[in-house]
Amino acid sequence: MPNSQDKLVELFSPACIASRLAALAEQINADLAGKRVVAVCVLKGAVFFFSDLVRQLHIKDLQLDFIGLSSYGNGQVSSGQITTTRWLSLDVTGAWVLVVEDIVDTGRSMSRLISQLRTLPIAGLSLCALIDKHERRECALTLDYSCFQVNAGFLVGYGLDYAEKFRHLPGIYELTS
Ligand code: IMP
Ligand code: MG
Repeated sequence: MPNSQDKLVELFSPACIASRLAALAEQINADLAGKRVVAVCVLKGAVFFFSDLVRQLHIKDLQLDFIGLSSYGNGQVSSGQITTTRWLSLDVTGAWVLVVEDIVDTGRSMSRLISQLRTLPIAGLSLCALIDKHERRECALTLDYSCFQVNAGFLVGYGLDYAEKFRHLPGIYELTS
């Protein structure tokens, strides 16, 4: 559990996140223009990333939905047990689904989610993550959009948690002891 010895080292400041996010939104606006899009926030980690991102999307036919996934328990290593805590509430038939996730690490959570979404009659799917820990990937998975690429370390803040703490911090930090 976090204790008084835990140190937070800033990796990405709020200003840095905002500027990267604006560039990403521009790219998504260009790619998905004219499509009927359902942007899906993967709770809880993507909550701030999602809310900042969708407010910069100028896609006319855009709807928002939420999925809940949990894989960590209270540790820094994924339990490997992925639980779906919430599923889509909108009908996504014929829509382009833009999945917005916090971190893709081993890729197990995303691979499972994508195979579930692909069973639905959707027009297509794009994957967007705040952080791509691509060197730790165990599943073949290509992200369409990512803000930052990070090799290692356990990150918190801007929605990312350790044992449900630190989500509220405005920047992204590495948690070190
Ligand atoms: P994966 O299934 O191994 O790709 O794990 C993905 C999930 O683990 C992410 O959606 C995050 O919620 C969580 N996760 C992975 N790395 C970190 C981290 O550095 N900080 C906080 N959560 C993380
Ligand atoms: Mg998490």
